[in-house]
Amino acid sequence: MKNLFIVFDGMDGCGKSTQLSMLHDYLFKMDKRIRILSTREPTFGKYGMKIRKMLATHVDPYSDSDILLNLYIKDREEHLENLVKPFLSNHDGNISIILCDRYYYSTIAYQHTQGVELNKVIKLNKKFIKPDLAIILDLHPETALKRISKERAEEKFEKLAFMKELRKNFHDLKELLSDNIVYVDTSGSEDETFEKVKKKVGKLLKSLD
Ligand code: TYD
Repeated sequence: MKNLFIVFDGMDGCGKSTQLSMLHDYLFKMDKRIRILSTREPTFGKYGMKIRKMLATHVDPYSDSDILLNLYIKDREEHLENLVKPFLSNHDGNISIILCDRYYYSTIAYQHTQGVELNKVIKLNKKFIKPDLAIILDLHPETALKRISKERAEEKFEKLAFMKELRKNFHDLKELLSDNIVYVDTSGSEDETFEKVKKKVGKLLKSLD
């Protein structure tokens, strides 16, 4: 059985962390042979922490695009080498599954929305391993912002005009990349969304039998 690398991505407030944790619990219970690890980008390593500081203090979503691009790439290099690749290289007869909250789909969509040339961002991410499945959660930015403001203060990228452009850039990813990307609408309840997520993941698991 092949090990699996599954990514959840999408704009802030789309509900990806909740869906990821629901999928984690579901897969863990489904089969005793499944080893499962959930992780996220930005990480809590040295580059990830720099990013987090910038996101919490910046007001303008368009500022520092190249600095951020560079930090996200460095953070990803470290994340893959230290955690993702070692976990996926385990072939002891069990099934290893990594669920990753954000990946290069975020870099392409966000940093391009910030103004970095699309081809430049895509090129810088070419060297990274391709996930087996990318689930991009989709929602109206207005609804996403409402969900965020109920929970916490808004961060750097959480501004309506920016998010409208960002949504379009996430939509374009399927055409631009040769990755296994699926879009899931998250305007319904958490359970309704999870039913859709389960179907997409079920298809992937079946294809491995
Ligand atoms: P977020 O998922 O909000 O982190 P957490 O929930 O752990 O606090 O991610 C932080 C922000 O970083 C989010 O607004 C999206 C942005 N981002 C990019 O702009 N480029 C990237 O490559 C990544 C991974 C994230």
